[in-house]
Amino acid sequence: MTNNSYYESISEKILYSEADIQNRIKQLGEQITNEYKGKQITFISILNGAFMFSSDILKHIKLDCEIDFMQVSTYGSGTVSSGNFVVKKDLSVDIENKDVIILEDILDTGYTMENLINYLKEKNPRSIKCCTLFDKPARRVNNVKADYAGFVEKNDYFIVGYGLDYSQKYRNLPFVCILKKEIYS
Ligand code: IMP
Ligand code: MG
Repeated sequence: MTNNSYYESISEKILYSEADIQNRIKQLGEQITNEYKGKQITFISILNGAFMFSSDILKHIKLDCEIDFMQVSTYGSGTVSSGNFVVKKDLSVDIENKDVIILEDILDTGYTMENLINYLKEKNPRSIKCCTLFDKPARRVNNVKADYAGFVEKNDYFIVGYGLDYSQKYRNLPFVCILKKEIYS
């Protein structure tokens, strides 16, 4: 089986190619670098989904920065948000008086980000911004907005790849796609 035949066996449609993603991430990294000139940024990468996005965007940040990781959950293993917020892995760095940028894979209902921002505000950072690779504003149930968004997805597709999973699989794809229907059922 070649690599391509694996990809063809799972993906219905590729929505964002590897080149699309890398080009957009480079732009976002340059934008953040310009906007935070003279500051030190504390990035918080949200595991597991943002691991690939984080490692790629951080290579385009040309400033002093700290990088930490959190793992939080509002999702089960399916495609419907439960709204329950649990901190599974907390910060290791102190963010008091720091300029924080959260790196997230996707903003969907916004439950995760709203809960996370409220949680982090208790630690008195100087500022908190949210940088998400994908944004589905049509699905939002609150006022959470992305300060930086890679791609705004207008359709209500459930997408996988480039960190995004379906039941913990497909995070390793270098592109983002919709899976074949038979995989979801
Ligand atoms: P929210 O709390 O509804 O905004 O959900 C955010 C989390 O749900 C993300 O960090 C993802 O883990 C997951 N999620 C939402 N939409 C998708 C999708 O289209 N594909 C894969 N995961 C998704
Ligand atoms: Mg997920």
